[in-house]
Amino acid sequence: MTSALLKIGNLSVSPVIGAPMAGVTDAPFRRIVRRFGKELLHTEMVLAASLVHAHKQTRQMALCEETDAPVAVQLEGTKPDVMAEAARIVEKTKRAQLIDINMGCPVAKIVKAGGGAALMNTPELAESIVRAVVTAVRLPVTVKFRSGWDEDSLTYSDFGKRMRDAGATAVTLHARTRTQFYSGKADWGAVAELKRALDIPVIANGDVRTPEQAKQCLSETGADGVMIGRGLLGKPWVLAECSAFLNGGKPPVVDDLGALALDHFDEMEKYYGHKAVFIARKHIAWYSLGLTGSAAFRRLINETDEPEAMRALIRDFFGGKHDESK
Ligand SMILES: Cc1cc2nc3c(=O)[nH]c(=O)nc-3n(C[C@H](O)[C@H](O)[C@H](O)COP(=O)(O)O)c2cc1C
Repeated sequence: MTSALLKIGNLSVSPVIGAPMAGVTDAPFRRIVRRFGKELLHTEMVLAASLVHAHKQTRQMALCEETDAPVAVQLEGTKPDVMAEAARIVEKTKRAQLIDINMGCPVAKIVKAGGGAALMNTPELAESIVRAVVTAVRLPVTVKFRSGWDEDSLTYSDFGKRMRDAGATAVTLHARTRTQFYSGKADWGAVAELKRALDIPVIANGDVRTPEQAKQCLSETGADGVMIGRGLLGKPWVLAECSAFLNGGKPPVVDDLGALALDHFDEMEKYYGHKAVFIARKHIAWYSLGLTGSAAFRRLINETDEPEAMRALIRDFFGGKHDESK
């Protein structure tokens, strides 16, 4: 069986896509995912206002590497002119192939300011943001949103149409409401309905972790692509594995989880310097999940603040353990 490529504007990519995840999908993580395949990845959410005000850390977050391609920079904000300016800054770097707009973040700090999922409650403003960004750049612009604010306002179909009319090239539906955050089951039925309502590519998101689920989600929803978030944590090969399953290709080989974790840590150290030890803890912990002794290992790495000690712990723990035990 062959699966068609997903076309988003001038971009042709695997229908399996890596989700934006704040605190996770940074440059070192993307480098590790890239070893396995060329699926479309997303940066962490980038606050448009900080980017425009040239906050160093935000600039670094939005600056992709040449090896990142194909990659989408995800912008978050509530002011059309600021979002447009942020999109111009991203386009000027020539390192991103897509701009994605965050209209799904459920975090209180963001929604209180009217951003993320709160934009679903102000669809006119959401539309103006998309129009402003689409006008400002030549890159294709996509929007990621939820099924609605809560179960009494499942506005995804109408919202999706508005996004399309405002110029979005494709949309991603995380089929949960804002009030659900990440709990409960994603409603793939909502994705199917959105797909029927729209004539632009629709990407399904929520609760896809395995190749079988990716295939099932695409066939149940009729969506053009499937986006994977949490399924990637500690499993950077999952996108390539899903693509291979869909197109009958060879799945990636992961024969040494410890070496992978060490390489990931090296990439983080190159990028973040000494503070990598702290930022890496969660990633290293994710690699260990499901393996015997993982809880004790996690306690140890959480107490470690020296890179060499972290490396020694990783070597000790993963020595001889391979991915078949996951
Ligand atoms: C740690 C974490 C950080 C996230 N950060 C973002 C983000 O920056 N932007 C965004 O649109 N969604 C973000 N999400 C949501 C994911 O992109 C995705 O929509 C959600 O996890 C559902 O997909 P899944 O079931 O495959 O995980 C985040 C999710 C997690 C778990």
